[in-house]
Amino acid sequence: MNLTIAVIKGDGIGPEIMGEAQRVLDAVGARFGHTFTYNEVLAGGCAIDAVGTCLPAGTVEACKESDAVLLAAIGGWKWDTLPGDQRPEQALLGLRKELGLFSNLRPAILFEELKDACPLKPELIAGGLELMVVRELTGGIYFGDRGRRSVGEDKEGTEGRKGVVAYDIEQYSDAEVRRIAHVAFDMARKRESKLTSVDKANVLESSRLWREVMEEVAPSYPDVELSHLYIDNAAMQLVCAPQQFDVIVTNNMFGDILSDEASMITGSIGMLPSASLREDSFGMYEPVHGSAPDIAGKDLANPMAMILSVAMMLRYTFSLEEEATAIEAATKTVLEKGYRTGDLYQRDTGQTLVGTAEIGCLIAQEI
Ligand code: IPM
Ligand code: MG
Repeated sequence: MNLTIAVIKGDGIGPEIMGEAQRVLDAVGARFGHTFTYNEVLAGGCAIDAVGTCLPAGTVEACKESDAVLLAAIGGWKWDTLPGDQRPEQALLGLRKELGLFSNLRPAILFEELKDACPLKPELIAGGLELMVVRELTGGIYFGDRGRRSVGEDKEGTEGRKGVVAYDIEQYSDAEVRRIAHVAFDMARKRESKLTSVDKANVLESSRLWREVMEEVAPSYPDVELSHLYIDNAAMQLVCAPQQFDVIVTNNMFGDILSDEASMITGSIGMLPSASLREDSFGMYEPVHGSAPDIAGKDLANPMAMILSVAMMLRYTFSLEEEATAIEAATKTVLEKGYRTGDLYQRDTGQTLVGTAEIGCLIAQEI
């Protein structure tokens, strides 16, 4: 196949981990006879520095014209003092919205080789952990109205700010819930046919609608067992009984939080990829972790989440299952051989500490 990929390296460790992802993808191309053409575009803090805006119009256009998008990481301290609506993160939210990427798949897999890095007691993870968080990505509080309004005047002579109210609106339409429900039920059907929907229906009206729609969709999937958990309970269950979960579906905000939690119980957030998909198979692929400015440019970052995101792209957008599996298998082999980046490395265990580029080369060689 001849495929064009929009490449957004972004900020911090982004360029380093993307370099390794492209190295691995080129190795896949060489082995399986595909040509990948990279269309590099700017987004995030680097775009603010270069052209004054975090998401230039040309970037969105280039992404729309490509077969898929790879994104490394966005943001950093340097831009932390900018007003909220100008922060680099807006680029990420803008891309998700403009490209219509409403469904976010975040698999959390405990690699056998990394069991020691898991913070949970061994008996909780005996037999492994493999769950999938399906996060709604273009609705809810992330995209609802937000703002501030003043309430009354500051009294003469008092310190501090004027009376002010800040608000962020959480809202979902039934259609938005229904389409993510179908993604999650389809996913559950391909796995263990067990779906947990997470909400806060004991308090929030938007969650009550969420739960109703999940129940409405359920009869179309009689083979899938649907259950509901409140977000607070789900967060607790995830660390005390994680093996009860297979597919979790939840809204944008809860999904953001639960996916970080799910990632950490598998050892390192540096291992976890994600896919953000549209109704058709088009998607944007990025690691779950951020731009880690503290280790940027030092050849310290773990590129595996980025590399595994490439595997997800091959699987979900291009239906190249064999190629995707080749990347996952190569990553596993490199771990089996004892190579570790600093986030995973443990002293006196016979492991070999390597940098970003070396582990990328090792994975590419395996392929
Ligand atoms: C994520 C990130 C983003 C989010 C931030 C960077 C806007 O935390 O992809 O999980 O909250 O969605
Ligand atoms: Mg997050």
